[in-house]
Amino acid sequence: MGFETGDDAAVYRISDDAALVLTVDFFPPIVDDPFDYGSISAANALSDVYAVGGRPVSALNVTGFPRDLPKEVLGRVLAGGMEKASEAGCPVVGGHTVNDREPKYGLAVTGIVEPGKQVTNAAARPGDRLVLTKPIGTGVVTTAHRDGVVRADVLSAAVDSMKSLNKGASEAMVSAGANAATDVTGFGLLGHLHSMLKASGASAWVSRRAVPVLPGALELLEAGIAPGGTYRNVESLDGRVSWDASLTESDRLLLCDPQTSGGMLISIPEAKLDALLHELSNNRTLCAEVVGEVTKGDAGRISVTP
Ligand code: CO
Ligand code: CO
Repeated sequence: MGFETGDDAAVYRISDDAALVLTVDFFPPIVDDPFDYGSISAANALSDVYAVGGRPVSALNVTGFPRDLPKEVLGRVLAGGMEKASEAGCPVVGGHTVNDREPKYGLAVTGIVEPGKQVTNAAARPGDRLVLTKPIGTGVVTTAHRDGVVRADVLSAAVDSMKSLNKGASEAMVSAGANAATDVTGFGLLGHLHSMLKASGASAWVSRRAVPVLPGALELLEAGIAPGGTYRNVESLDGRVSWDASLTESDRLLLCDPQTSGGMLISIPEAKLDALLHELSNNRTLCAEVVGEVTKGDAGRISVTP
């Protein structure tokens, strides 16, 4: 499984009973605390293994760091990433650091999956329910943080969400028998749903009201704050999404808000929905909301209802 469908990770069979899951992700700091930044970036990188139903087994640090910043700061970033990877049962076994004007950090993760058992984003079927496992809004909250206009409780809810692993969501979807999945990251909820639908040859509807939102995120959007990526996301979906007339500009921006370490969007046959929701609650995912349904229609088309 490689470039063709835009899946979250590559899958490469090495024997009849094992395939490698390969992925890399890294980015500049989005929060001030170096330990939190390391944890968030590691959780985000591990997520691409979870999105294909894999189990991460080892990881390598990918790091850029300025010469004039104290080494202890770098140590805290790496410690945050290490702690998160060990929570995932995935030792960090090495890595590489280059001199860089702006810090960058992330992981190249190797995972394992049984060949043919990987979950793809390309097999959603009409009638599937769409389940989201984390609230959205990390893009607008971290942008407000950068601009110095976010309340501490709003930021800390977003940080907790970004630090939380998609491990429980992944194990639940594998055991319940999901048809398809993706994690929600830079293209926002609708962008990643669009990719899944396009690869699957199906359409979907999403209910705005059903989508879980981080506390304070909508208020920030209403106050005119939004990351640049949001507008690019809205624009790139132009002509592919129909919006109910009652939805506001803030609703549109919210559903296209770029996520860091976002939740899993799982496409599950209706008959298996209860089993999935049960597993997600056992595994204590941040949320488990049915946000919409896959339908027959033009590949990639989305309608958003109130
Ligand atoms: Co991903
Ligand atoms: Co990724």
